[in-house]
Parts: sequence; C-alpha cells; structure tokens
Amino acid sequence: MSEQGQKNFYLTTPIYYVNDAPHIGHAYTTVAGDVLTRWHRQRGERVWFLTGTDEHGQKVLRTAEANNSDPQAWADKLVESAWKPTWKSLNIANDDFIRTTEGRHMERVQNFLQGLKDAGHIYEGKYEGPYCVGCEEFKLPGDLLPGANESEKLCPIHSRPVELVSETNWFFRLSAFVEPLLAHYRENPQACEPTSARNEVVAFLEGGVSDLSISRSSFSWGIPVPWDSKQVVYVWFDALLNYATAVGLGDAPGTPGGEDFAHKWPADVHLVGKDILRFHAVIWPAMLLAANLPVPKKVFAHGWLLVGGEKMSKSKLTGIAPSDITDFFGVDAFRYYFLRAIPFGTDGSFSWEDMVARYTSELANDFGNLASRAIAMVEKYCDGKIPCVANEPELAAAAALATKRADESISALDFQSGILAILEFCKSVNGYVTEQAPWVLAKDPARKSELDQVLYATCESLRILAVLFNPVMPETSQKLWRALGADKLGLLDDQRINDVARWGQLPTGAQTIRGEVLFPRLPENTGEELRG
Ligand code: MSP
Repeated sequence: MSEQGQKNFYLTTPIYYVNDAPHIGHAYTTVAGDVLTRWHRQRGERVWFLTGTDEHGQKVLRTAEANNSDPQAWADKLVESAWKPTWKSLNIANDDFIRTTEGRHMERVQNFLQGLKDAGHIYEGKYEGPYCVGCEEFKLPGDLLPGANESEKLCPIHSRPVELVSETNWFFRLSAFVEPLLAHYRENPQACEPTSARNEVVAFLEGGVSDLSISRSSFSWGIPVPWDSKQVVYVWFDALLNYATAVGLGDAPGTPGGEDFAHKWPADVHLVGKDILRFHAVIWPAMLLAANLPVPKKVFAHGWLLVGGEKMSKSKLTGIAPSDITDFFGVDAFRYYFLRAIPFGTDGSFSWEDMVARYTSELANDFGNLASRAIAMVEKYCDGKIPCVANEPELAAAAALATKRADESISALDFQSGILAILEFCKSVNGYVTEQAPWVLAKDPARKSELDQVLYATCESLRILAVLFNPVMPETSQKLWRALGADKLGLLDDQRINDVARWGQLPTGAQTIRGEVLFPRLPENTGEELRG
C-alpha cells in the first residue's frame, strides 16, 4: 500500500526482440497486460504498466547485419517505426517503455552484476554446449530434436539447427538457489500460475539445475561486463533486469530512483508466454534472491496462438500483423477476441471464421444492437432525454453479480470467464427488452410510465456495460458513454468497479446522442487471404 492507502499494481510484459515488427502473438501478451492494468485502474489502484524492447544479443545483431545495418540504428528504426506505433494503434496505455540500450538500464545492469560478483555469486568457467540464437538460450541436449543428419540437432521451438558454443565465460551460481526456489513455490503457489506452469517449474527445479553462463565473448553487441571488457552480459541476464532497472534498481534510498523502487518493487505480475517461463520463474527470482531483493509476486504464463498447430512466428512465416485483423474488424474487436475465445494459459488456434462469428453474434448483435436500439427508442419516445430514474431489481441484481464475477475472474487473470460474466449480463438485458417490448408499450399513451421505466432500466444497464467493457474495448465503451449522455457522471475512465453496479446513476434528463454504430456490419469479401 502507498502512503495514501491506495493499492499499487505493477505489471510488466516481456520486452520484445527488435529483430522484426510485432505480430499478433506479441500483441496478445501486450493487450492482456493492457486490459488487466486498465481493470486495476478502474478499481482505483495506483497502476504502473511497463513494456519495452530487448535489443542486445546475437538474434538482433544478425538481423541488423543481414539488413546491412548497425544494430543500434536497426533497433532505433524498428522501435520508432514498428513497436511504438503498433502499441499506440492498439490503444495500449503503458506508463513506461524501456529499451535495453538506454543508459538508465545499462548502468543499473552493470551495478547489479558487480554486486553479485562482490557477493561471490559469479565465477569464471568454460561453457560448451548447444545454443539456439532464436531463443537466445543455452539448450540441454535432451531438449533437442533430430536434424537432417547425425550431427544436426534442432531447437524444438524454432525448428532450426542449434549452434555449438565453446567459450570461457562468467557463470552465475544458479544451482545454489534450487532449494530456496522450491521452498518459495511450495509456500507461495500463487507466485507461478497457472498450476500447469508451476508444476513444470517445480519439476524442472527438482531435476537439478546447473550454473548459468551469463556472459559471451564471441561478439560485442551487449552490455560490457564491468570487470572484463572482453565479455558482454548474456542477453537474458540483461533483459530480465529491465523489470527492475525501469523502476530504479540499485539507486540510493532518498533519490528519485530509490523512492520509485521502494514504491513499485516487487512487481505484482510478470506476464509471459509459456516459452519463456523458466527464465522468469527460475533464473530471474534466483538473480533477485542472490541480490537479497524481493522476488515478483506472480509470474503468469499464457499459451501460444497457433497457426497450423504450431506456435505462430515470423521465423516460420506464419506471423500475422495486428493490422491485418484490425483493418477488418477494428481495434476493439481485436482486443476482445483473443481474450474471449482462448482461456488464458492455454494454446489457441487463430480462426478467421470464429472471429467473424463472435464479432457478429456477441459484439454486433448482443452488445451493439442493444445499444443502438435503446438509444433510438429514447430519441423517438422520450425526445432524446433519459427518462425518470426507475428501479428494476432483477436487472440491478444481475448487474451486481456480473460485476462481482468479472472482478474476481479478471483479477485472477481469467479473462475469458470475466468477459463471459459481462456478456451474460448483456444477454439478460436483451432478454428484458424482448420481454418488456417497449415498442408495444409505446403504442399505448396510458403506458408511458411503464415505457419510461423500461427505457431507463435499459440505458442504466448500458451505462454499467460501458464501464465493465471499458478495459477491454475502450474506444467502443467511450462511444457508448457519450451516446448515453453519461458524460454528466464524469469521465468513463474515472468510474469505479466497486461502484458501477449501484443502480440509478444515469441522471434523468441526460441528453442521448445517436452516434456511430458500435460494431459495423463486416464487409462480405475482404480478409480472404487470412481465411481458412
Ligand atoms: N526478448 C524475449 C523476452 C525477454 S523478457 C525479459 C522474448 N521476446 S519475443 O519477442 O520473442 O517474445 C516475447 C513474447 O511474445 C513472449 O512472451 C512470447 O511467448 C510471446 N509470443 C511470441 N509468439 C507468440 C505466439 N505465437 N503466441 C503467443 N505469444 C507469443 O522472448
């Protein structure tokens, strides 16, 4: 808790390699982080949302070289022309963006490493073994797949040959932290989720872990090891530290960085894909334990978006750019679809047909049509003014239940159940409108007060839906907020989850505005290249 008694919530996404532009797999993690942090902001918490880019190492270096570019110029170009604009276009409201080539990061990494060396956690040794540049990971022979010939072995994630590395490097005594980490996960099961991810990490730790080479000497694109200028810091050791360097790691108490760190660390949630779970749930907390720092409260590993049954990736030419989807469905439907369709933590296949079906039935029909019908009726029967505040206890109870369920589920990173709870409320409101048939009531002037009551209850329910959907679909929710004349209640972002279901907030007399359709009908024959 901060001094004001406000809860802090610090969430990170992985920092992405700048070897290429973002695809929808990267967007999946970042959108999930954005939805969760927007939800926590609407809970009234003090939120910090960090994303960024991972710019050192051989993967980026080789891509830059292949493009006849210097790695720094390459990274600068991709960050400015691809990564930052993509997050902006998807309405990602991150508070900070860290690049591992920034001075603030590089200096703090060097200080951290020197601290570990001084404390006896680092020693010099010889590394010999397979390395996948795609993963930037030292592999165990048992993890590899057979290649084209006897001597070739493939990385199971990239289906590309691994390389044999033989170097004198600096090593981190990772093995010393196996027992403390096992105890940590035993005592704090919520520190690694979902359960399947925790089981994997525990089994990995129980199998024994070797010390980790944390420097490389065969190339120079990286942060120099402070006491050995011939070596650069291993890219994962450098990258993992971003979560802490971005909030002032190692700065003296009383300095701005020191204060920041005291407020924000440890992170509440590190969101990661399951392919990078071990780095986050084994190596990273061990680094922190070695430095006597608190470990993150939770590492959550989500599943992969699959294409043709395999992890979608640019290297396999299956990467789909977010704009391929948003150009057709719009940004909010994109933000909605993956969290709605795939349980977070499980793999899911991208299907154009499924997205069309959900867009049409859930977004355009259940939600969008409800809004446009309600606002059209208020205009027609009530001169565009919200009628008298009226009770409707069943809808109010349904709203309260949906809010409670959505809050519990989304706070637990179960986005699918959270969204379903909100959708169910939307269906109840549709059922109510069908049952009450305001268009029939409108035919009889003696039933005007009944008509007003139904229209009030419908619009009040839409107010609640606008607030609950706001973290997932901010643009659409804002359109609805304005259309309802709800601006009178203040900014949509300032509405609080714990107050949203209090019935009767939409003020009588608020002026509705018949605006754009929330989810326009989809064009018949575009997006063909992505179908099937
Ligand atoms: N640079 C490292 C992370 C360092 S964090 C200290 C990295 N970068 S990455 O760009 O390759 O991937 C970043 C994230 O994108 C990972 O969480 C990964 O799981 C996610 N995804 C990449 N492809 C994906 C899918 N096809 N589906 C879902 N997420 C995927 O790893």
